[in-house]
Amino acid sequence: MALTYLEPLSPGSAAVDRPPEAYLPMQEVTRQIAFEEGGWHPERMAKVTELFDGLAAEWHSRGGVERLAPTRDALERGGAPAGGRALEVGSGTGIQTEVLRSRFDAVLSVDLSSKMLARAPRRAGVLLLRADASRLPLKEASVEAVVCVNAYLFPAECARVLVPGGRVVFVSTSGASTPIYLPPEDVVAALAAVAEVAEATTSCCGSGSWTVVALGR
Ligand SMILES: C[S@@+](CC[C@H](N)C(=O)[O-])C[C@H]1O[C@@H](n2cnc3c(N)ncnc32)[C@H](O)[C@@H]1O
Repeated sequence: MALTYLEPLSPGSAAVDRPPEAYLPMQEVTRQIAFEEGGWHPERMAKVTELFDGLAAEWHSRGGVERLAPTRDALERGGAPAGGRALEVGSGTGIQTEVLRSRFDAVLSVDLSSKMLARAPRRAGVLLLRADASRLPLKEASVEAVVCVNAYLFPAECARVLVPGGRVVFVSTSGASTPIYLPPEDVVAALAAVAEVAEATTSCCGSGSWTVVALGR
């Protein structure tokens, strides 16, 4: 299955230039979670919960329209369905949720951190739920899209909860400098290890990047 590379959108936007030590350790954790059996374990879950509980109070300062543009672009040019139900994994304080709500009829926003969720605005058509995305309290084939913005990819759970032909939308708002990041080829490979991949598209938008993968019927 070929990965289609679309032209970058607004490539003139300022690139994020952080020292690699700021993001490489978390990128390795992200890779382990996506690829390794046992990559997500109770100790790691406790550390991640503590980390994001601690960041919740200042997370809103990471908002801004430029951080929403890659998600909008992923949904539009990546061919995500319009309407239906979306699961937002690692929704944090809900910065990205409005973009999803404008595309889907209903959004289930899931996060491990109760402190992040407590700061998310309440919106019509959006259900907030504290849950671990590695063990979602959802039936099989219950959503049309799983959206991870700066969030870990749990391939087996994506495949289980998506309807046949559903999409995984993986967005990194600072591209390859995003701490929770996987290169597009790895997003596809991690999903292909657990499900049939029907189609995959990737691109950049501003300083962000995204990959959309349609799983087979
Ligand atoms: C980097 S933040 C991104 C938040 C939001 N998507 C954004 O872009 O502003 C990652 C979020 O994923 C959540 N998270 C980490 N592991 C998770 C898991 N296993 N299940 C659900 N949420 C998780 C964290 O609590 C945190 O809120």
